[in-house]
Amino acid sequence: MKRALYHHTRSKAIASAPHPADQDPMILDLHRLPILETQRLRLEPLTVAAAGDLYPLMGDPEVMAFWDVAEIDDLDLVVQIVWAQVERMEDGLDVHWAIRTLDGGAFLGVCDLSDIDRWHRRAEIGFMLGRDAWGHGYAQEAMRNVIAFAGANGLRRLAARTHLGNRRSDVLLQKLGFSEEGLLRGHILKDGERRDCRLFGLLL
Ligand SMILES: CC(C)(COP(=O)(O)OP(=O)(O)OC[C@H]1O[C@@H](n2cnc3c(N)ncnc32)[C@H](O)[C@@H]1OP(=O)(O)O)[C@@H](O)C(=O)NCCC(=O)NCCS
Repeated sequence: MKRALYHHTRSKAIASAPHPADQDPMILDLHRLPILETQRLRLEPLTVAAAGDLYPLMGDPEVMAFWDVAEIDDLDLVVQIVWAQVERMEDGLDVHWAIRTLDGGAFLGVCDLSDIDRWHRRAEIGFMLGRDAWGHGYAQEAMRNVIAFAGANGLRRLAARTHLGNRRSDVLLQKLGFSEEGLLRGHILKDGERRDCRLFGLLL
């Protein structure tokens, strides 16, 4: 009984304590998201209009080989996924960007900061490029800017998770300065089989 009371009052105290984000105006203001420009790329906050661009990527078995779900051959479902991502942005939980070329605006892929935790100042990163955009250093260029943006806005830890065998993503994360922190055994259920994932982290 005493124990239950302790937990009740403790969680109430935590809930009413001033939130670190309230004291630091630098922490991500998701209602004023900037477009990020790099040497070759333009990262635009995602809108539902980008679902048509994303559809061919999510239908490509090679792009989706190490994604948590199998490839998707249904435009309506891709629209729903993007809607859900835009809603999470409006709720302050994620930031998703469309990655386009600076010169011409061709769609290359998407990237994100997700599960933003303002109390602990941490988030997860993700990235996906169309097959033709691999091998040009675009993911590195985009993610270096996303990481700088995260750090400039108060986040202090980023995590990433890759399926075992996703060599390109592992190499990318290492080049970005992430350290491998562990193995999540049987973390994903895909095609009827459990898959292990590597966990990566970066302190900013
Ligand atoms: C993960 C992914 C984004 C990596 O793409 P990538 O193009 O390999 O990543 P980088 O931006 O680091 O580019 C590195 C490659 O570009 C080459 N490159 C060419 N020009 C370059 C430049 N100016 N700067 C840096 N690298 C350059 C590098 O040599 C390297 O090629 P290599 O691997 O053939 O040696 C891509 O494979 C992908 O979208 N995969 C599917 C989705 C996925 O699995 N996402 C991750 C889920 S956790």
